[in-house]
Amino acid sequence: MYTSMRNLTLLAGSLALVTTLSAQKLSYTPANPDSYPYPSVTTDKQGRKINVDGAILQKQQVTVKETYKSPISGKNHNFGTKATKEQIKAWNTDVRPDGKGLPDGQMSVEEGAKVFAAKCATCHGDFGEGVDRFPVLAGGIGTLKLHPKTGGDPGPLKTLGSYAPYIAPFFWYIQTAMPLSAPKSLSDSEVYGILGYLLQLNEIQVNGADIEDETIVNRKFIKAVHLPNENGFEYNNLRKPDTHNTRCMKDCIDTSKMVVMHIKTDATIVKPPFGDGRYSFDDEKKKPAGDIGKTIYENTCAGCHDSGIAGAPKFGDKADWAHVQKQSLKVTLEHAIKGFNAMPPKGGDASIKDEDIKSTVEYMLKKSK
Ligand code: HEC
Ligand code: HEC
Repeated sequence: MYTSMRNLTLLAGSLALVTTLSAQKLSYTPANPDSYPYPSVTTDKQGRKINVDGAILQKQQVTVKETYKSPISGKNHNFGTKATKEQIKAWNTDVRPDGKGLPDGQMSVEEGAKVFAAKCATCHGDFGEGVDRFPVLAGGIGTLKLHPKTGGDPGPLKTLGSYAPYIAPFFWYIQTAMPLSAPKSLSDSEVYGILGYLLQLNEIQVNGADIEDETIVNRKFIKAVHLPNENGFEYNNLRKPDTHNTRCMKDCIDTSKMVVMHIKTDATIVKPPFGDGRYSFDDEKKKPAGDIGKTIYENTCAGCHDSGIAGAPKFGDKADWAHVQKQSLKVTLEHAIKGFNAMPPKGGDASIKDEDIKSTVEYMLKKSK
């Protein structure tokens, strides 16, 4: 919204409709004192009405020309002036998945890489690897299947290459939002070059060929790109709600039957040095003893044991647990605490106390006979 407004102002400025004044020259007399801290319309020293961004309000902007009769209220509503072609163009900057909206312009991947190094690499890394916690822009293809809890190192990595279904909308995104500190500063050609470089980093092939440094990136090229996850999203059931109720239009709620829902108390592990590694409950006193096993199971063990990943005995599956039930609890506990083949010590969380592992194992054994 903000950028669009700026756009309009800039555009209007170029059409000599609006004069922009520097903020220091203005004396703010809020038209509406309630609109503090940003009065929408103020007056400058010459008594001209100005917008909050310093643009002088022109007659054209306040004259109401278009009216619209509401079919519901039967009343006339005023809609200001009809948007001009240029105004619509300034707002309509999005680029669709099929490439509609891509502008003219072109740049080689090599040139794009230079722009990226100069304007993007401080945050996203020279090769899109991401600096600190700034988004990673390359790699991760094939990792979406990995479950974060299995330690499937490092779990799914969602990047423009691995996760995004289409590349064309990134044209709009990058031009509108990046670089973070100077959005809208890149030329159309620069964005093309950068997109080419990002695709090259992601090892995307276009028309069956690798992207070379000399590859020229333009509208036609971007339209030919297919990302690996293009079919990874489902659109076909958007219009089919999965409920089969008859729609209720009148007296829908019988308040006498209303049930108040409570959110289950959450548990978080408080790790040293701030805690002793035990789970802390908001409402510990109300928790029946023994629940700690269930909580730890759900937080730390379920990732593998719910589905039986890597040969983990499946929770609740009697046959899977038969051999464990037979052996002594001492041996089982030792396995759970010290690790056993693909079973990591304490399920990977060394901060859990031995006695709590015991509660967890007992819970798992009880539920799997
Ligand atoms: C000052 C740091 C900074 C700079 C410089 C910067 N970015 Fe970003 N970039 C970010 C941050 C932060 C986000 C996440 C924004 C969000 O999620 O709202 C981001 C997000 C992105 C994304 C979306 C990533 C995704 O997976 O959704 C792309 C693409 C991107 N930037 C490209 C660029 C390009 C190209 C440049 C250079 C022209 C650039 N960035 C410069 C900080 C930066
Ligand atoms: C990364 C996956 C993973 C996680 C997380 C995990 N387990 Fe396991 N667990 C395994 C696997 C795999 C086995 C089977 C090892 C074997 O029999 O070779 C196993 C086996 C076990 C066994 C049977 C040991 C035996 O003697 O045969 C117990 C008990 C157990 N896990 C408890 C836990 C507890 C308690 C937690 C959570 C604190 C946990 N596991 C978390 C993978 C996992």
